[in-house]
Amino acid sequence: MTIHYAYEDILKAAKRIDWTVEEIIGRGQQLDFTRPFMPESLARTEGLGFMNEQEKLIFNQIRGHSYLYIFMLVEEIILPFVEEHANREGIQNPIETEAFMQFAAEESKHIELFAKFREKFQADFGTEIEVIGPVEQIAKAIMANHPLAVAITTLHIEWMTQGHYVDSVKNNVELCPQYESLLRHHWMEEAQHAKLDSNMVLALGEGLSQDELKLVLEDYFKIGGILDDGLQIQAKFDREAFERVTGRILTPEECAIYQDVQSQAFRWTYLGSGMTHPNFLKTLEALAPFMRETVESISHNFC
Ligand SMILES: [Fe+2]
Ligand SMILES: [Fe+2]
Repeated sequence: MTIHYAYEDILKAAKRIDWTVEEIIGRGQQLDFTRPFMPESLARTEGLGFMNEQEKLIFNQIRGHSYLYIFMLVEEIILPFVEEHANREGIQNPIETEAFMQFAAEESKHIELFAKFREKFQADFGTEIEVIGPVEQIAKAIMANHPLAVAITTLHIEWMTQGHYVDSVKNNVELCPQYESLLRHHWMEEAQHAKLDSNMVLALGEGLSQDELKLVLEDYFKIGGILDDGLQIQAKFDREAFERVTGRILTPEECAIYQDVQSQAFRWTYLGSGMTHPNFLKTLEALAPFMRETVESISHNFC
């Protein structure tokens, strides 16, 4: 199976989209704290039966905050990686370089968008929410792995973003309109990124032996482990923020339920939903069928 997305088409599509951070989050738009930010399929507040409806809403918004913070964090790691790929030696087609540079410029814009959102959220929500980092430390641990494993992780993240929007945010009238708009505008540009990632993965995988690809897959799982460690800490920070803002300290029994439900909710949001995305699996299969089969054989643990 071969997959290749034409750079000319990707670039044309990217250039048709034209929004600025100021249009999306400036100019007096307000976050609506009477509504959820995250779709329930990702937030999974229903499993937190010890919370009342108002508490579930507050927790959903805390999850909405960490969701975009984690996007910002991974995009800060993706940006220099993509820039390096755009400037690598041996590129024959200048349109390819331009498409990857456009990708990098958009990622830089998204980082600014998410930072502005965070500022606005913190100001209106009134309680500080701790976040994982620093990004340099996480980036260093991820970059110690094979470049193809980093590219596969990027592909995973960008199809995952697509899946979230299309499956549960698009046309979801219950969500805060400002938050939905932010995800919609982000999604428009990410649609091109996921295709570029697929091309990048197949280019980096060219000529690698089965044994090398096995090591690459191990590294992809190692990166998944690094992300999972961070996500579990973020789940704890989100619980602490909930306790601070509501003044309700969870009992040990409630903490155990929280741990069960939310560690899996975080895993599904950032790991399982990427590992099961059909287009992610299609590219893995094009690289080597055993890679797809291996990922599919363990993805249920993250769902
Ligand atoms: Fe992005
Ligand atoms: Fe992206």
